[in-house]
Amino acid sequence: MTPLALETKGSVLVVGATSPIARAAAAEFARQGYAVILAARDKDELDRIAADLRIRSRVEVTLLPYDADLKGSGTRLAEIALELEPPLIGAVWVVGDLGDQDRAQEDVTHAKAIVRRNFTGVIDVFTPIANAFEARGAGFLIAVGSVAGDRGRAKNYVYGAAKAALHAFMSGMRQRLDRKGVRVRVVKPGFVDTAMTFAMGPLPLLASPDKVGQAVARAATGKKDEIYTPGPWRWIMLIIRHLPERVFKKTNI
Ligand SMILES: NC(=O)c1ccc[n+]([C@@H]2O[C@H](COP(=O)([O-])OP(=O)(O)OC[C@H]3O[C@@H](n4cnc5c(N)ncnc54)[C@H](OP(=O)(O)O)[C@@H]3O)[C@@H](O)[C@H]2O)c1
Repeated sequence: MTPLALETKGSVLVVGATSPIARAAAAEFARQGYAVILAARDKDELDRIAADLRIRSRVEVTLLPYDADLKGSGTRLAEIALELEPPLIGAVWVVGDLGDQDRAQEDVTHAKAIVRRNFTGVIDVFTPIANAFEARGAGFLIAVGSVAGDRGRAKNYVYGAAKAALHAFMSGMRQRLDRKGVRVRVVKPGFVDTAMTFAMGPLPLLASPDKVGQAVARAATGKKDEIYTPGPWRWIMLIIRHLPERVFKKTNI
């Protein structure tokens, strides 16, 4: 597959930049010569990541605060990112929280926090950026979703529902913006070796955050709209999605 050429070297905003997946994606964008804007809530960790990036790639690294739980934080982040130089050419949403499914079944506030951190938060950040990219006729938006969003499962359906909403939001924006020159991509990892899966025991097809981060960066120039990583998850989820409900509800998948 021939990758599309990016129009200009601009800035790429990475939201949720303290995730190891985001770190790997940011490193790849920086290696390609893009200035990177890293947004997260842990300032000390952001400083460490930025110092490392500056040594390795010598690109401009800007740090911005972002907390999905703070009202107005996403809107402010988008406003500032759109004013920075070099101009914003891409935005990547990596923020996510698996949460605690058992707690979410008792505590609606926790369930809503999971939805905000995986889905509604992105609306504040991506809506103004999408509009700016549409007006400019260029840019890319990438969201890290999850195979968990492909079918609601008893083990994590609040998280899964939020990811499903994220996928649908991106799909709708893709249909709206693709014809305007804006690429909209979703990366759906399976299990990744990060804090999120720590203590889950042995997991099938466990991917390294570096591999997933590179897939995220590649999504900006590749032609695939939805990327499963590692690839076999596409076929696993195809089967899981097509299991009839009367069969699925009796399984412990
Ligand atoms: N690990 C997996 O197996 C797996 C599988 C499929 C999809 N994913 C997705 O991959 C993405 C990255 O996850 P990860 O595995 O790298 O786990 P992670 O290290 O826990 O990363 C989650 C990221 O989301 C940020 N975040 C959480 N709540 C936030 C909030 N209220 N405001 C701002 N940022 C917040 C975290 O920031 P802090 O450092 O401040 O907490 C962190 O940067 C997530 O979207 C996740 O759903 C992961």
